[in-house]
Amino acid sequence: MRIDGTPFRSIWVDELDRWSVRIIDQTKLPWAVDLVRLTTMEEMAHAIKAMLVRGAPLIGASAAYGVALALRADASDASLANALAVLGGTRPTAINLRWALARMEKVLAPLPAAARVAAAYEEAAKICDEDVATNRAIGENGLPLIAERAKNGRRVNVLTHCNAGWIATVDWGTALAPIYMAHDSGIDVHVWVEETRPRNQGASLTAWELGKHGVPHTVIADNAGGHYMQHGEVDLVIVGTDRVTRSGDVCNKIGTYLKGLAARDNGVPFWVALPSSTIDWTISDGLSDIPIEERAATEVTTMTGRALDGSIATVRIVPTSSPAANPAFDVTPARLVTGLITERGLCDANEAALTAMFKDVA
Ligand code: MRU
Repeated sequence: MRIDGTPFRSIWVDELDRWSVRIIDQTKLPWAVDLVRLTTMEEMAHAIKAMLVRGAPLIGASAAYGVALALRADASDASLANALAVLGGTRPTAINLRWALARMEKVLAPLPAAARVAAAYEEAAKICDEDVATNRAIGENGLPLIAERAKNGRRVNVLTHCNAGWIATVDWGTALAPIYMAHDSGIDVHVWVEETRPRNQGASLTAWELGKHGVPHTVIADNAGGHYMQHGEVDLVIVGTDRVTRSGDVCNKIGTYLKGLAARDNGVPFWVALPSSTIDWTISDGLSDIPIEERAATEVTTMTGRALDGSIATVRIVPTSSPAANPAFDVTPARLVTGLITERGLCDANEAALTAMFKDVA
């Protein structure tokens, strides 16, 4: 995608600067495009944990480069094991993190130390390139869902939650890929962007992305989605996901489940876009088997934004004596999911359909 005309990916390597890794600090968006240079595995682990990089596919790609940074400093078995453990402990819910680390380990562990650094950068780059191709395919496979509702130039209203756009992946995004393709092909598509409290990935990130690409959109409070569905103003919901079970249960940003319920009650199709690296083939029951990240209560008790004088300010919105809880994800049961948009095509959210589509990996 482009930022003000310049092509960007969300993560890249600067070979001329000692193979450091560059990211866009997403905690600074939408107010600043702050490019951060990472030179150590510890810096990468911090970037993932503190959500300078976030979104399941980008977390995986970042962790892969974190391994490369670790090996650049020390290519021993102990250093590799330490990097896998430290990076693997940064965020618990997105399965792409474990998927990417397992892939790095499989390639790197059998190699002699002297061959590991080049191989690590090469494998991380492959993960990134594959992510871009995968998301492009998700976009192409999801595009007809929007196009078929756009007959006679009619506007199509899509509701999304959180940010599953290009900055949540290496490029294109998952949920937003079909939307970008629809917009680029001349379809009048409009996006209801849920703000996504507590961290406001919708208001800060999805709105920024869509705005930069010229896609018409409206930011709404999380609680407004059901209202617009009741009034016939949502044609379909498309969200991303951090982990899908083999039975098709979908774990995504907290609040997604409520949209699945509202969509079912109003007969609105509820689609989930994902790369197959987001499927956890080892589990079936999303409610009991997926670890839900509990983040700091301060994310709920405070809000950060730009004050009228232009400065960035964090303010407390909860009485100082009130405790807060902050589960970062929830699970939408497969029965509420109309279907999955994958790189191989559209798929029902159940075990038979998933294992048939992904026979070689399931
Ligand atoms: O906590 P975050 O911002 O990493 O959560 C991101 C989401 O929940 C996205 O919807 C999901 O990772 C899919 S990203 C293509």
